[in-house]
Amino acid sequence: MFRTKTCGELRIEDCGKQVTLCGWLQKSRDLGSMTFIDLRDRYGITQLVCNIDTDKELYEQSKNLGREYVLQVTGIVRERSNKNKNIPTGDIEIEVKSINILNNATLPPFTIEDNTDGGDELRMKYRYLDLRRPIVRKNLELRHRLAQLVRSYLSKENFLEIETPFLIRSTPEGARDFVVPSRMNPNQFYALPQSPQQYKQLLMVSGFDRYFQIVKCFRDEDLRADRQPEFTQIDCEMSFVGQEDVLNMFEGLIKYLFKEEKQLELDKFQRMTWQDAMKYYGSDKPDLRFDMKFVELNDVAQGKGFSVFDDAELVVGICAKGCANYTRKQLDALTDFVKRPQVGAKGLVYIKYNEDDTFKSSIDKFYSQEDLQKIADKFSAQKGDLILIMSGKTMQVRTQLCALRLEMGSQLNLRNPFNYAITWVTDFPLLEWSEEDNRFYAMHHPFTAPNPEDYPDILDKDPGKVRAWAYDLVINGTEIGGGSVRIHDRDMQMRMFETLGFTHEAALEQFGFLMGAFQYGAPPHAGIAFGFDRLCAIFAGVESIRDFIAFPKNNSGRDLMSDSPNYISDAQLEELYLSLKKQ
Ligand code: AMO
Repeated sequence: MFRTKTCGELRIEDCGKQVTLCGWLQKSRDLGSMTFIDLRDRYGITQLVCNIDTDKELYEQSKNLGREYVLQVTGIVRERSNKNKNIPTGDIEIEVKSINILNNATLPPFTIEDNTDGGDELRMKYRYLDLRRPIVRKNLELRHRLAQLVRSYLSKENFLEIETPFLIRSTPEGARDFVVPSRMNPNQFYALPQSPQQYKQLLMVSGFDRYFQIVKCFRDEDLRADRQPEFTQIDCEMSFVGQEDVLNMFEGLIKYLFKEEKQLELDKFQRMTWQDAMKYYGSDKPDLRFDMKFVELNDVAQGKGFSVFDDAELVVGICAKGCANYTRKQLDALTDFVKRPQVGAKGLVYIKYNEDDTFKSSIDKFYSQEDLQKIADKFSAQKGDLILIMSGKTMQVRTQLCALRLEMGSQLNLRNPFNYAITWVTDFPLLEWSEEDNRFYAMHHPFTAPNPEDYPDILDKDPGKVRAWAYDLVINGTEIGGGSVRIHDRDMQMRMFETLGFTHEAALEQFGFLMGAFQYGAPPHAGIAFGFDRLCAIFAGVESIRDFIAFPKNNSGRDLMSDSPNYISDAQLEELYLSLKKQ
């Protein structure tokens, strides 16, 4: 037996026992006649003591052990004189009798502690060392627990976990595919799935009724803190259900996770239409931890000779409670914030509602005190409030004001990551017009059903206005999941492909297997997929999903540890019929 106990479990009751522990040397201090060593394993840290008076040889050996050496240590548990209240084993230490070096270690390039001195790049290069840090390990433990809870809830609800293939056919809709050349089929390629969407629908045609999978998905898109090229979904599908059934089932799942993991009983989730989310928060993933709702001001702000507002499609603002005392410098900083290329606004108008009942604004030249009062009334503003207004093209200005709203929320500390504001966003548009490509794209994906109230009349007249039976789950301004009721009727599916610009032949050529399956009795079905990495990050109260993935990629999609992607040999290229040669 290598060990009798772990480094996290010994307590004061264990004093006097002989134990054997294994672990890594985190830190050692030589006090001249005694060495104190912190021995670390997955479960915790235990202090070891080697005393020159008890065993000189052992003391000499202990002085020469380096950081991250792998040790097997036998000794007696003793009560510590200097207790450490910060760790669970802080009441005891091990009086060492023998040390067996299981392996030595080169000095690591950064300290293996929560507060490490290693930068991002270095820690990614040595990810296996980074994973030794308790703070990172805890994230993966959380991920494990959540995965178990998901399986337990869904299994109880009769869902079957079924694997779908990773080597699939490339389809033209959605994000860019990662492709894999086929050696056995010259010049032909598989794609890695962006999601198992079509397969889970086929499983419904096969009669599986309730399916789920915790599954890797691959998307070749630009990366951000909450986007990785390979990420994990909790992917689900159900038969003989409508939107309401799906929302209830998965609201139940999320509530179960919060209850089991955080002992939090959540209220019924709020619901908001996409229209309202855009109108009041300028985003389809509104952060509802704070109010600061948009107020549209065209009727009170236009027609006063201020051409910036007069010429705008939309004049819209927010009211920041108690911020009328913002200084010139603070207001300039906010203007600079909205003018950054990432936000792209031309400017920002402010109105301060002073304590003496007067208004001070950046548009005093055009607006009388009465005019400003009218604007303030639209917000039900009070003395001491600051109103911030932007104008422009409707969708553009909403997005810009959304960025400002979030910035104000952060400045005013209204975005506590452990204060959970959850909402379903429903009634997404079915289609999205692309000016660039001069065609419609499916907003969710081409298998999403139109709301029957809008089909086929509105699709005939004004396709952009058709609402989809699609829904997203948004927590604290992050899109955690999305899904839809699917089209299960072959003709309707064909009509959808036509609307998306596919000829009959092209649709059959690209999606023939799904269309084929729909001939054989497809049940009404609907589903959803959650971003599992994002869900983990939300539970831990952080924005980046990277630390919830054991071996993540950096923002350029590189794995710095294995240095991939990388070139392959000419022989490999040839075997795959790829003519691209290294120069
Ligand atoms: P969707 O594309 O909305 O839907 O994806 C579902 C959820 O997956 C997460 N997600 C990501 N997480 C990390 N990195 C990424 N690059 C990334 N892309 C998406 C998000 C998102 O809400 N097949 C449909 C689901 C369905 O209709 O059932 C789908 O994939 O949290």
